[in-house]
Amino acid sequence: MAVRSALINVMVRAVNQAARGLKRDFGEVENLQVSKKGPADFVSAADTKAEQVLRNELSRARPDYGFLMEESGGTDPQPGCERRWIVDPLDGTSNFLHGLPHFAISIGLAERDEVIAAVVYDPIKDELFWAEKGGGAFLNDRRLRVSSRRNLSDSLFATGIPFLGSKKDDGVFLRELTAVMQNSAGVRRWGVASLDLAYVAAGRFDGFWEQGLSPWDFAGGILLVREAGGIVTDIEGRSVSLEGHTVLAANEHLHRSLAKLVGGAQKR
Ligand code: IPD
Ligand code: CA
Ligand code: CA
Ligand code: CA
Repeated sequence: MAVRSALINVMVRAVNQAARGLKRDFGEVENLQVSKKGPADFVSAADTKAEQVLRNELSRARPDYGFLMEESGGTDPQPGCERRWIVDPLDGTSNFLHGLPHFAISIGLAERDEVIAAVVYDPIKDELFWAEKGGGAFLNDRRLRVSSRRNLSDSLFATGIPFLGSKKDDGVFLRELTAVMQNSAGVRRWGVASLDLAYVAAGRFDGFWEQGLSPWDFAGGILLVREAGGIVTDIEGRSVSLEGHTVLAANEHLHRSLAKLVGGAQKR
């Protein structure tokens, strides 16, 4: 039986509370107020309400910690504290607004620049992915381990496709996609970066890469992958920075080959 620390329990209580609102709103998605932050970049009342619930719950439990949240921005930690919550209240807004039951709440807790605790929760499937640095990664009560596949040609990868107005370069992406498609057993685009990473941790996907991400998309997921025995870098193979925008994650056998395929396609 996996034993959760007090810190993880704080995070779990917060996501459970926010998930109740998301599930309610998902049932009445046609009545939600939706606005556009940019081309093809939507935010709904479900995103902002969930974010408010998370901020209230987390700041009540840990008043000294700072925040970096997708919809409402950042606040610094109190003097003497170097921790901040990095929060995506609804990862997969497009899925949510189209009635696709695949989205998540993601929280990573960073100490300076390192993520030390993570919770990614899929309220529809009731799958709670969580990890604490050095303590392993779990799905509900089950310990997670990345896949053990060694051959690219047997492996299934996830990615994110650039959309209207995104900062990603479509030409580069198409070369990357072609390279991975031609050398793997398949590529998926499910539209929820935090769950893509959680699924790498769970061994469901053998690897994942995406550019143009924000810290709240990947802060939780990268710790899940690492604690499940996987390797996470940026697309150039350097260590991932919370200020960076690219992530490439895979099991230890495939990480180098995936990085070579994706990195090679970038240079062409
Ligand atoms: C998006 C999802 C998606 C990724 C986008 C993100 P949002 O987050 O994580 O998978 O491809 O880059 O913006 O806006 O639904 O929270
Ligand atoms: Ca968004
Ligand atoms: Ca997101
Ligand atoms: Ca979001």
